[in-house]
Amino acid sequence: MTGIRVRSILAVCALACIASFATAQSGAAVNVSVTVHANEAGATINPNVYGQFAEHLGAGIYEGIWVGEASSIPNTNGYRNDVIAALRELKVPVVRWPGGCFADEYHWRDGIGPREKRPVKVNTHWGGVPETNEFGTHEFMAFAEMIGAKVYISGNVGSGSPQEMADWMEYMTSNTVSTLANLRRQNGRDQPWEVHYFGIGNETWGCGGNMTPEYYANLFRQYATYIKAPPGHRPTIVASGGNDESTRWAEVLTTNVERDLDAISHHYYTTPTGIWKQKGNSIGFGEDQWISTFANTMKIDEYITNNVRILEKNDPKNEIAFYVDEWGTWYDPEPGREPGFLYQQNTLRDALVAAINFNIFHDHARRVQMTNIAQMVNVLQAMILTDGPRMALTPTYHVFHMYIPFQGATVLPTDIRAPTYSVGKTRVPSVTVSAARDTSGNIQLALVNLDPNREARVTTNVKGFDAQRATGRMLTANAMDARNTVDAPSDVKPAPLNATREDGALVLRLPPKSVTVVQLQ
Ligand code: AHR
Repeated sequence: MTGIRVRSILAVCALACIASFATAQSGAAVNVSVTVHANEAGATINPNVYGQFAEHLGAGIYEGIWVGEASSIPNTNGYRNDVIAALRELKVPVVRWPGGCFADEYHWRDGIGPREKRPVKVNTHWGGVPETNEFGTHEFMAFAEMIGAKVYISGNVGSGSPQEMADWMEYMTSNTVSTLANLRRQNGRDQPWEVHYFGIGNETWGCGGNMTPEYYANLFRQYATYIKAPPGHRPTIVASGGNDESTRWAEVLTTNVERDLDAISHHYYTTPTGIWKQKGNSIGFGEDQWISTFANTMKIDEYITNNVRILEKNDPKNEIAFYVDEWGTWYDPEPGREPGFLYQQNTLRDALVAAINFNIFHDHARRVQMTNIAQMVNVLQAMILTDGPRMALTPTYHVFHMYIPFQGATVLPTDIRAPTYSVGKTRVPSVTVSAARDTSGNIQLALVNLDPNREARVTTNVKGFDAQRATGRMLTANAMDARNTVDAPSDVKPAPLNATREDGALVLRLPPKSVTVVQLQ
């Protein structure tokens, strides 16, 4: 497997390459060699690996996506024009909604029918603010259609019932003349919607009900029984799994559930400190937290590996996928902002976190068939930050855009020899890599230079393909915490980067602290 090959070389490098590259001085370029095996094919990268998550949380939905038809912010039927246009550019494959923790207190009937008559609830998880239910099932489905994404609905197990969940499915997907299907028609939608993915609860180990895996496994069996859709339209059913290093949920679910289980979800958030009560700041950090953020985010590789090992044991035919349906950075709240809104700045560091994770997800493409970054707009590691009528595309947005060619591509094995980058006792590889053959047959190469001080001189050897050139885009900035704002929206943006031929080899010069995606020709 590609991932194993990459990891083993890195592991060797963590020890041996330190010696071989020990001569590299601070500021001097480090030498890296990458071999791409273009004549060997790995797994296909499911486009859903580039999925997103949008929860009723802070300004994620209200203000971030939905402003209502009466708003002075330019909108189409209530959806902000600027945000919709930017998301369409990103080719978002799938959106998970309405939560998160919010999902297990969400009652779908509150969000249908005339908006002025919808009940106002309290968003108990996120700031205790009023939830007007203005954005409900019809609004979400229309949003997904506007940006061209598939839908992933998270159902309420924690405070809902199997009947309520079954009714929601019927409301959304029934093509009969049942009372619920007719209610949908009365509310303005004649044709049934396609529900592509349906989650049975969220974080049932915590905000979704504080359950044990054994208890939840039984509930999953019960709730999933009643997820019904017209023939040929059954959604992929997702079980709520574990988080961080936990493998127990994968073990219990795969041994206690015999049917309906198509995927198991897993959550992992990256903090700079690794300490939940004091996570670290989104800006103004030092190199110690630059590197610790990367070291922490890379733990996901081991967490996925351990869970996949259990799936391989209990599901050798690979019928159950592993979805990382919440991931990304989580920092301390911004001073002066409501802590429950999870609004945070997004910098070059976040861009590198995104790319490092993509390179890892590709290594596990066989099982990891969906991931959903948390979250889409204005919440945690967002693509877009809005400020009244204006918005800024974050560095994370640009990385998602640069990686579009990897959607649906076939992984190509790579070997990398890269020195270790270290600060104090924290050590990470200085460069990570991923290669794939895209759906048009072109070879794409993604590289992250984690070292903020040194250029990486990458000599690229492509087996089975006579690579003469490489052209693409690179993202970097002057500062580790460089970011875009509504006043300076283009401080961090991709620039062209091409390979040179040096002594017969294809050489890429990666600036310090950068993400690069090039196409080999
Ligand atoms: O993304 C924010 C929250 O993080 C989600 O609501 C929850 O599932 C997770 O704990």
